[in-house]
Amino acid sequence: MFTINENFCKLPESYLFSEVARRINAFKQAHPEADVIRMGIGDVTLPLCPAAIEAMHKAVDDEGSSETFHGYGPEQGYPFLREAIALHDYKERGMEIDPSEIFVSDGAKSDTGNFGDILSADNIVAVTDPVYPVYVDTNVMAGRAGTLADGAWSKIQYLPVTAANGFVPEIPAGDHIPDVIYLCYPNNPTGTTLTRAQLKVWVDFALKNGSLILFDSAYESFIREEDVPHSIYEIEGARKCAVEFRSFSKTAGFTGVRCGYTVVPKELTARDSEGKEVSLNHLWNRRQCTKFNGASYISQRGAAAIFTPEGRRQVKEAVDYYLTNAGILRQGLTEAGLEVYGGVNAPYVWIKAPGGMSSWEFFDLLLEKCNVAGTPGSGFGPAGEGYFRLTAFNTLDNTLEAVRRIKEAGF
Ligand code: MLT
Repeated sequence: MFTINENFCKLPESYLFSEVARRINAFKQAHPEADVIRMGIGDVTLPLCPAAIEAMHKAVDDEGSSETFHGYGPEQGYPFLREAIALHDYKERGMEIDPSEIFVSDGAKSDTGNFGDILSADNIVAVTDPVYPVYVDTNVMAGRAGTLADGAWSKIQYLPVTAANGFVPEIPAGDHIPDVIYLCYPNNPTGTTLTRAQLKVWVDFALKNGSLILFDSAYESFIREEDVPHSIYEIEGARKCAVEFRSFSKTAGFTGVRCGYTVVPKELTARDSEGKEVSLNHLWNRRQCTKFNGASYISQRGAAAIFTPEGRRQVKEAVDYYLTNAGILRQGLTEAGLEVYGGVNAPYVWIKAPGGMSSWEFFDLLLEKCNVAGTPGSGFGPAGEGYFRLTAFNTLDNTLEAVRRIKEAGF
């Protein structure tokens, strides 16, 4: 009889956002009259920008004629998109990234989850805590996490980021050297950021210890403050120790269209068990060619359009809209007497649950009293207990209404 990968059986029953959706739906069934404002999963509400829509309409027409039809594309992405990314996301910001180091995909969730395919199951993995659950769950699936007790996996190194350390993860002390470190900045879920100097500490640590940093910068377009790095490659030496993941989902509203990319610099190498140097760019390319047939031509044409002057202007307008919402949440919830973090260079605000409540208690209370749904911090890791996340991705009207209800409820 066939057997299964039992690591999957170790996972909690459901993925965090599925569980949140299940509870909201149960609440809605019990209270059909309730007008629930969803600020849980970070899904966008604005339509795609006109530049992307126009480019995708044209791409559909291309597919309708034998002269312009595109079948299988390059697994790594079309040159028109890889070149636009290298130019606008990197060169214009003073970083040299070659198009051949860019791998276009269907989004950062898949890539951050899949990247472990090319890493040994023996690696010690470190994550900031709280953390985007995909990093942890996919390492559980790969057998790198050990066993679960009190919300923590025995083989994962948790680097707490809480109000106590200003949401800046501390370098592991003593012999606890992780092989692989996941960093996400601007951070999901806390909405906080690192300065260049704070990120440099991690790059230096990785270079000194031969660790790999998996840097998720899916929220890069929300950065408005000067001293916050947009890419880990702004830090000297990062090309030798870091992979970067980016997404068009939050930048340009591609949550439904699907497109993102991963940068794997050519200098990034590791040694195999015989001491031979192996290129990660080569391995990732090999993995992608076997398991992935590329993001769709239509999505990639849409993504390329956001780098045109009008595309960039339209995308910035949408991101500014969400940042206005984030500011409204920050201010309104602070006025309501809550402790609030993040939301300045990120679409997430991170709230301390009042009165020593647990994250799920506050989730239930907010849903029942205000009909506002968020995400319980404990779902993102042990150090998220007692915190709560709201997203700024709803409409301006709903954001104002949510703040009004929360103020009225008086926590
Ligand atoms: C979130 O809410 O954390 C994100 O939307 C999840 C994701 O990007 O997959």
